[in-house]
Amino acid sequence: MNKAPGLAILPGPLLAERTTLELGGRALAELRADSLEGLEAAPGAAASLGGRLVALGEGSNILADDGDLPLVLLTQQGGRTPLVVNEGKDTALVLVDASTRLPVLLGRLAAWGLSGLEGLAGIPGSVGGALAMNAGSYGSLLSDALEVLVAVSASQGIMTLDRDDLELGYRHMSITGHTGFFCIDNAELRLRKSSPEAVRARMREIMTKKRATQPVTAKSAGCVFKNPSPEQSAGKLLDEAGCKGFSLGGMAFSTLHANFLVNLGGGTTAQALELIDKGREAVRAMHGVTLELEVVRWP
Ligand code: EPU
Repeated sequence: MNKAPGLAILPGPLLAERTTLELGGRALAELRADSLEGLEAAPGAAASLGGRLVALGEGSNILADDGDLPLVLLTQQGGRTPLVVNEGKDTALVLVDASTRLPVLLGRLAAWGLSGLEGLAGIPGSVGGALAMNAGSYGSLLSDALEVLVAVSASQGIMTLDRDDLELGYRHMSITGHTGFFCIDNAELRLRKSSPEAVRARMREIMTKKRATQPVTAKSAGCVFKNPSPEQSAGKLLDEAGCKGFSLGGMAFSTLHANFLVNLGGGTTAQALELIDKGREAVRAMHGVTLELEVVRWP
């Protein structure tokens, strides 16, 4: 077994305890990195443990299988507080670690009066997870602010990347020409200077909209399907196909927004997958559109 400074090897936790859907069985092990050096050692350690290495942030976009899972979870701790590292006349550059919770970052941006990511208010994920899937909401796309990304991979080691090295799209981020596992360590984000009052007011407005249209307090992983195009809402298509509120055991399509799969209590991944199939089939039959998952399936 590899032992490395900055990397702790822990027993495999239950994914049901680490994901916002509260679903999923036990991973093989957890590797907890508290430095870039620790992250670098993770692929080697996972290889000796014999499981597939996956990065876990706040678990807010994950649908994990029930039972024993051949996964080694890579988690990060000890992140620095977000920091303004460079300031121009109209903009500022903010350094943020991947393990920082998105609401913590947004709280700092509001306090500094830095604008650009207000639309992400209310998303519970980690900055690393939000970058990896290029989270977006209410006109804000995390990648719009992204200037530099530091990531670690098994094949390349530590990589410092700028926007030209990345492929960025709707709910998509990848490193051009890179295949296989990588884990984000930190990023630099470019924000516009505004005022704390204006940024806070916009975030409050977004939260009010979200509370009215999305089940923000339910156990969910946000939208379960991607929108098939910018003009088409998967939620609307599911709603029109009669899926809103449709339940199976402890799992249901939310009564507030049909594209949120929620765990009402005691739900299982098998029920979630059956509902996903039924929702997809109903939309295909009514609209001729095949919905693609937005949530990440493990293993
Ligand atoms: N609608 C319905 N029924 C529903 C849901 C929506 O008729 O059950 C209608 C709404 O009334 C509205 C339209 O569909 O006219 C669009 O709805 P909404 O504004 O909620 O946007 P969305 O396209 O359904 C997307 C993102 C959300 C993001 C919101 C706000 C995806 C898959 N979803 O939803 O992101 O918060 O826009 O910007 O891209 C997520 O990715 O997890 C997520 C929640």
